[in-house]
Amino acid sequence: MEKDEDLEKFACELQDQIMEKTRKQYSETVINHWQNPRNFRKIDNPDGHAKVKGPCGDTMEMFIKMKDEKISECGFQTDGCATTIVCGSLATELALNKSFTQALGLISADFILKQLGGLPEPDVHCAQLAAETIRGALTDCLSQKRSPWKKYYRQN
Ligand code: FES
Repeated sequence: MEKDEDLEKFACELQDQIMEKTRKQYSETVINHWQNPRNFRKIDNPDGHAKVKGPCGDTMEMFIKMKDEKISECGFQTDGCATTIVCGSLATELALNKSFTQALGLISADFILKQLGGLPEPDVHCAQLAAETIRGALTDCLSQKRSPWKKYYRQN
């Protein structure tokens, strides 16, 4: 019994130490998206889709659905690090309920970094990957709108 309590105490202390270290490097917004990622899902039959590989070899995919000229659904998946999930989560939130042009004008790596209160230098490319992927999905929306028949040749 005592051993279990000791182990639990040790685990709690370790977790506190990790969180304390994380808080020194990352903003509350980053930690919030890290602990509760938004829109981490694939969307079937999307109006826009992109899959991008970052310089680190991690991949991100974004899926967009449009309704009444606005982004009604936006989801992402990644095999990347926790910061990549944070950036993808924020990017999808930023895109929701925006028009195609609003989202394209708004979402960039710089804007994601600003919204997150910055990231340590080694994580900056995660924001670039999220921005590039969502911009690719938005561009794909436009291309599908111009040539709707292309959708039937895709495998998403
Ligand atoms: S470490 Fe590669 S995208 Fe985050």
